[in-house]
Amino acid sequence: MCGIVGYVGKRECTDILIKALHRLEYRGYDSAGIAVFEGDKLKTVKAKGKINDGLVEKLKFEKKLTATAGISHTRWATHGEPSDINSHPIGNGRVSIVHNGIIENYRELKAFLISKGYGFESETDTETVAKLLDYYYDGDPIEAIAKAMQDIRGAYALGIIFREHKNKIFAVRCESPLIVGKGNGENFIASDITAVLEYTKDYYLLEHNEIAILDENGITFESFHGEEIQKELKTADWDISAAERGGYNHFMLKEIHEQPDAIRNTISPRVKDGLPDFSECGLTTEKLRSYKNIYIVGCGSAMHAGLVGKTLIEKLARIPVVVDIASEFRYRDPLVTADDLVVIISQSGETADTLAALKLARSIGADTFAIVNVVGSSIAREASMVMYTNAGPEISVCSTKAYAVQVAFMYLFAFQIAYANGKLSEEKCKELTAELLEIPNYVHQCIDNESAYQLVASKIMNASSLLYIGRGLDYALSMEGSLKLKEISYIHSEAYASGELKHGTISLITEDTPVIALATQSELFEKTLSNVKEVKSRGAKVVMICCEDTNIDDASVDYKIGLPRISELLMPLVTVVPLQMVAYYTAVLRGCDVDMPRNLAKSVTVE
Ligand code: G6P
Repeated sequence: MCGIVGYVGKRECTDILIKALHRLEYRGYDSAGIAVFEGDKLKTVKAKGKINDGLVEKLKFEKKLTATAGISHTRWATHGEPSDINSHPIGNGRVSIVHNGIIENYRELKAFLISKGYGFESETDTETVAKLLDYYYDGDPIEAIAKAMQDIRGAYALGIIFREHKNKIFAVRCESPLIVGKGNGENFIASDITAVLEYTKDYYLLEHNEIAILDENGITFESFHGEEIQKELKTADWDISAAERGGYNHFMLKEIHEQPDAIRNTISPRVKDGLPDFSECGLTTEKLRSYKNIYIVGCGSAMHAGLVGKTLIEKLARIPVVVDIASEFRYRDPLVTADDLVVIISQSGETADTLAALKLARSIGADTFAIVNVVGSSIAREASMVMYTNAGPEISVCSTKAYAVQVAFMYLFAFQIAYANGKLSEEKCKELTAELLEIPNYVHQCIDNESAYQLVASKIMNASSLLYIGRGLDYALSMEGSLKLKEISYIHSEAYASGELKHGTISLITEDTPVIALATQSELFEKTLSNVKEVKSRGAKVVMICCEDTNIDDASVDYKIGLPRISELLMPLVTVVPLQMVAYYTAVLRGCDVDMPRNLAKSVTVE
């Protein structure tokens, strides 16, 4: 939800800001802008549209900027439609800001500022912050920021510049992420480290109630009372190549191809003597034996990974698992108790609803266990126990490898909890763990089956609606498949438990409604096949995803996508590949912007 970058150093900053903004474009791309110290003025250039379509085009008509410090923004619109006027930076020539988050009391602040004689141009909540800073500013930026922040309610990460404090950047945050990058003779602020990896790997995590002050010589941190704060410098272990497309047409395709390594990096370090080992986070055998219920909470694909986890944990460990959408969990007064474990899944570690769900669980006294990809993210820091999924940066808005590693992690977790509770023998646990360690090879094999995915994509690309069906683990996967397709190809689709179809949804079936049936579980195969025949006899074209050696007669399905036969329990780890690939090629054939689908953002830091 909006990306922020700030640069101060010796180099001309426009290109650096734009390059870094591009790496944050996954956070939103409704508009983009920069504000820089040009001579004695603050110069702002901003435009509706993606960075290259709007901002970069507009800059071509401007006199070349020579500034060496400035702030920039790529927007995912919340308050106010995407337009030039609602774009950030927002300011009045004396102070200029970029903002990620939502100011909840902006109406109240606006009324106050209007009573003080301020006028408003945009429909944004952000403009109230810019005006409030101006109102409080009396020559001392720290005092102005401290006073303004005390009046503001909501979530924010702010980059702030004052005309009178040339080549200095100030930053504050509450809930929304912001890092402060330390370079050599140049310093940065950014919504995440990937934006500035090309320039530095060293960064500070800014906390609530801290103000960062950057110039080319250094970075200092102060409290709202002006006391200096010492902070620990961290070093990112992500490589810049991980944040680049590296020969692939899209980040999504690159990230699908990265899945074997990502799964390996997630699982292998957590296996000791052939058994899962969660000791790094303090999830001991005693703890795993003590939980009465397990809740798994997340949003989007992370929640879908939880659905696979539920089936596995209930099947193997016989412990009840509730999977919840974070935005529902947090408002429905969940039955969580201090005897329960709440597992929080999040790629970014910043999703606002997921973070709020985690805080709620903590306030109830439950143990919280975060499974997160981004190191040092808010969720990782808030949870009582955390383990990282080691997938490397995921840039494409459409999640692929992050979901795959979350699912892989669910397996290891289910094995561990079942073993700890005596429901899985040591021998069986070792056997399953060994099979899990082999999975990357099979994922690799599935990725290579490109022509089958392209063929299916060409057959469904003109549909206006389609259904994904499956039972058990296949149903959980069909939800992820349906989400992938709709989010990037804009074809409406729904995922349905096969057996539930005839209770209403089958009325949607016509010969123009393709059905993608997942049938990887032998004990449910015959049942799903019957459902396939039901839709087929009503004219639907059927694509079946099943093991390559599954015997089905040609009349039953139109296209078959074969998967390697591995242990049935582990099939979701390979089934996800065709789902991702079919969505990918369908979107490509339809000419969609695969990595930046309309209306979406990768990191959802607003409710
Ligand atoms: C957004 C993304 C999804 C993601 C979800 C949860 O909607 O587009 O791909 O699954 O947020 O994000 P998280 O970072 O918490 O996993």
